[in-house]
Amino acid sequence: MHTPPTGLYEAPLPADWPEPEALGFGRILGPYLAHAQHGEDSGWHAPTVSARSALSVPVAGGGLQYGFSVFEGLKAYRDADGRIHLFRPRDHARRLQQSAQRLVMPEPPEEVFMTLCQLAVQVHARYVPPFGRGSLYLRPTLYAEEDALGFRPATRHRLAVAVTPCSDPLPKSQRLWAETELIRAAPGGLGAAKTGGNYAAGLAGQMRARANGFDDVVWLDALTHREIAEAGTMNLFVQIGDEVVTPPLDGTILAGITRDSVLRLLHADGVRVSEHRITLDELAAAGMAGQLGTAFGVGTAARLVTISEISDGTTAIRFRDTGLAARLYERLKQVQEGATHALREWRVAV
Ligand code: COI
Repeated sequence: MHTPPTGLYEAPLPADWPEPEALGFGRILGPYLAHAQHGEDSGWHAPTVSARSALSVPVAGGGLQYGFSVFEGLKAYRDADGRIHLFRPRDHARRLQQSAQRLVMPEPPEEVFMTLCQLAVQVHARYVPPFGRGSLYLRPTLYAEEDALGFRPATRHRLAVAVTPCSDPLPKSQRLWAETELIRAAPGGLGAAKTGGNYAAGLAGQMRARANGFDDVVWLDALTHREIAEAGTMNLFVQIGDEVVTPPLDGTILAGITRDSVLRLLHADGVRVSEHRITLDELAAAGMAGQLGTAFGVGTAARLVTISEISDGTTAIRFRDTGLAARLYERLKQVQEGATHALREWRVAV
């Protein structure tokens, strides 16, 4: 375990610090960054901690100019004894490596990633909400740091971990808008990489969904515009008959760690699960046949959100609450927060 430099970070929280339930997501940022630089010739430098305000991103560099930036989102939770654990950090490290590889950026070694996450939590330990009432969200970000406008791989990069304390996401229900014109990702593109461009490309769809009175967007495949892919920031699951279906990892969607956790929990519960393509028309037909059960979206920030409806403006597909999503939400929360011994290998102590 890496030890942070001093006791500097132990100042009490301000008197007007919000209750965990009022933290929301991403509003309060931790004052420090844990970071490490990578040089083409020197490799990875030693991890360090600085004030967040001390780092700047070059305007004329590949990070801002060409989008050479990839990131992760993972959470640290406090258990009932007050100890802090990271949830599946090594899986996030591997996914960051895959994103980096796709954008021709240096792949951070797992141990560099782990040390930076550990440091980021240690220096913000007082920001981690109490057991059961929220988490510290970590945002490890790898970006090109060289000030140069040539379109080529940068010679200098940095991996920096920012944090934000957040509320426990509520198991709310959403109506989703299936976007039939804009696309998020196409085969061979960047869809599986966790990179800002995917989110920037997706915002217009989310705004269109909201303008149509829906909560979020469902992205469809780029070729036929009929197969469901993923929601704005979540992977999708639908229950059809006695089976739960989720779109396959075909390179156009993000390989969600929460998606993987939910698959494992479903398998462990003996639920039949299948990863295959599914169209809006097949969902509509299953609805007509009375076979549609619950639908839900999952992601690190959102945890698990029940979906009551998906509509493309012509066909409204309505899902039935069978209680499956609520059960999964509770199971996942218990595993993440260490309220059960099940799957404890997913939690890494800080
Ligand atoms: C996450 O769930 O970790 C995400 O990256 C979603 C974020 C865009 C809010």
